[in-house]
Amino acid sequence: MRLKEKVAIITGAANGIGFAAAETFAREGASVALADYDAELGKARAGELQDKGYNVEFFEVNVAERESIDQMVTAVKDSFGKIDILVNNAGITRDGMLSKLSSEDFQSVLDVNLTGVFHCTQAVLPAMIEQGKGKIINTSSVSGVYGNIGQTNYAATKAGVVGMTKTWAKELGRKGINVNAVAPGFIHTGMTAKVPEKVIGQMQMMIPLGRLGNPEDIANAYLFLASNESDYVNGTVLHVDGGIMM
Ligand code: NAI
Repeated sequence: MRLKEKVAIITGAANGIGFAAAETFAREGASVALADYDAELGKARAGELQDKGYNVEFFEVNVAERESIDQMVTAVKDSFGKIDILVNNAGITRDGMLSKLSSEDFQSVLDVNLTGVFHCTQAVLPAMIEQGKGKIINTSSVSGVYGNIGQTNYAATKAGVVGMTKTWAKELGRKGINVNAVAPGFIHTGMTAKVPEKVIGQMQMMIPLGRLGNPEDIANAYLFLASNESDYVNGTVLHVDGGIMM
């Protein structure tokens, strides 16, 4: 039970990596707020975990809207009494080559992947400062560090997340709050299901471990950064990508 008596908010928890993290955290004893835009799926997913006996609840949120975030954070505090861990996991792609990428698609990815992370973190901060301890975990990407064709908007946000992670690690360390990021490689989720099979094959050739990752591979990295085992880890970007980034 590595997260016994902890309360965690995981954004984008209705699906993919976020859902795997919700199950992993709950299994380790945490009370988990599954926060997501997709209410239908989110409620169903929370129900699956409740049926297994876990203390989880679904909270509807659009991380692109500050008011929605504030309402979610208040509702989580009302339900669970405190917030120990925030995993900024929600993310979207709107891919397009630079020559064709619309301003709308550029901005909508920024609103969720970058501004959403800023607002969610700011919203939980008072609760963490008050208790003198907290764990913030952000989600970057191999695309943010290396760049990726067709991902001007996405790569910009994921590089931005690294900058915010390191800045907050410096600002908040003395308040007992650890801030770290995970940079996943290519992981089997709905996000990569959109990628053509040929491209997946090419990706696989680039990965020293010879396979795409599973959502649980990232959930386990989130778990380490959420647990007391990482109490002296701050401002790091943990690459979980089968060795693409070396
Ligand atoms: P996914 O598409 O399977 O799940 C994303 C979840 O976020 C969905 O449940 C969706 O409803 C939710 N969401 C989207 N917009 C939202 C909003 N405005 N407010 C609240 N929730 C919202 O994605 P996946 O693959 O699980 O990705 C999770 C994180 O990992 C993302 O930040 C993504 O950028 C990152 N990542 C994923 C990689 C992959 O290969 N799958 C690689 C590198 C990073």
